[in-house]
Amino acid sequence: MRAVDIIQKKRDGGELTREEIAYLVQGYSNGEIPDYQISAWAMAVYFQGMNARETGDLTMEMANSGDQIDLSPIAGIKVDKHSTGGVGDKTTIVLAPLVAAAGVPVAKMSGRGLGHTGGTIDKLESITGFSVEMDRERFFAQVGEIGAAVIGQSGNITPADKKLYALRDVTATVESIPLIASSVMSKKIAAGADAIVLDVKTGSGAFMKTLDRSIELAQAMVDIGTHLGRNTVAVISDMDQPLGFGIGNALEVKEGIETLMGRGPKDLEEVCLILGSHMLVLGGKAKDDVEARAILKAHIEDGSALEKFKQMVGAQNGDASQIEFPDTLPTAKTFIEVKAATSGYVEGIQAEEIGVAAMLLGAGRETKESVIDLAVGIHLSKKVGDAVEQGNTLAVLHVNDASESKVREAVSKVLEAYRITPEPVAPQPLVYALVT
Ligand code: URA
Repeated sequence: MRAVDIIQKKRDGGELTREEIAYLVQGYSNGEIPDYQISAWAMAVYFQGMNARETGDLTMEMANSGDQIDLSPIAGIKVDKHSTGGVGDKTTIVLAPLVAAAGVPVAKMSGRGLGHTGGTIDKLESITGFSVEMDRERFFAQVGEIGAAVIGQSGNITPADKKLYALRDVTATVESIPLIASSVMSKKIAAGADAIVLDVKTGSGAFMKTLDRSIELAQAMVDIGTHLGRNTVAVISDMDQPLGFGIGNALEVKEGIETLMGRGPKDLEEVCLILGSHMLVLGGKAKDDVEARAILKAHIEDGSALEKFKQMVGAQNGDASQIEFPDTLPTAKTFIEVKAATSGYVEGIQAEEIGVAAMLLGAGRETKESVIDLAVGIHLSKKVGDAVEQGNTLAVLHVNDASESKVREAVSKVLEAYRITPEPVAPQPLVYALVT
């Protein structure tokens, strides 16, 4: 077999066999096939696509390229949740304890932030002492004892995807549905989930800017999961504005705590209830969405979801008193208000611009090596649909010691992000579709 023949076959619209896909993935992993050939192949896939069988085979080859986690020592149906990436998305911080309080074990590996999107692991590290690293035995024991653990990716999970994703990032081949679907699902399969709830973001701040493309991506991932025996559902949720009000690590933990207390932003609470309901149904703890939602709400109202978060934080060496007193989490020194230049109604808030502005303040990483500041970020004062008078505060920047020029740049990014129109704006749906 030769890589060049496989590239040519895909370039000309052919269907690759499992053996051909395995040859490419294994050859790339062990260094026998060079970057330039895989780049050419990825571009061929970008233009020609792959069918469901090819996408499933690519997923399995990447899942098999490294460690596979066997969660079977943990009793119960382990349901994983995955978001395709948004700004202000702190749903894992809410859902891990909430769903665990309802009896579905959550054994979650999460990532760090890069570029305009944040990462759950960085956010949780805003809690003093919180440890995101633990060995397999302790991870299993914690999930067994308290029902939830959220850790960083440990071991050698899907090394082929890691290498391919880095290459796609610099060859303009990220936005390919079969490549995204296989990349996401290979990690979920290798991490051992029995069932998977996907949160596919749609809109200006998402990978997929249109609803049609988002549904197509969701369907590709659901098909892979179902084909591989994992019950999978996908919720298509809005990313035409950030989720909630806070963007930045400690700010997002604070908002997650408020949501667990029942007084968080309505959009965040609603997305968590929708995703959490699917997790409960797939986890066998509720017969339908109605029952699941009632269970989740009861765990918020009686304080057991917040209590579960405290237990999880304590078990991971974090200071659980900060959950009770969130003001003790890292806080910035300076607050800069960004004021509206015109009056009208907020029509949209470019989530990506807000994410980049938060990154400029130090909340996110420009490169993998960047050091982040857990206290800084942005708190939105106006969201889509809100009326705005000229001079009103649109958002507040939480700043530590970002240089003047970076702060100025962040202010203009926030101003650019807000689209203000003279006409009143109808409320936007939070969830557009469910793909099963
Ligand atoms: N997230 C992933 O893990 N992979 C992709 O290809 C895109 C988003």
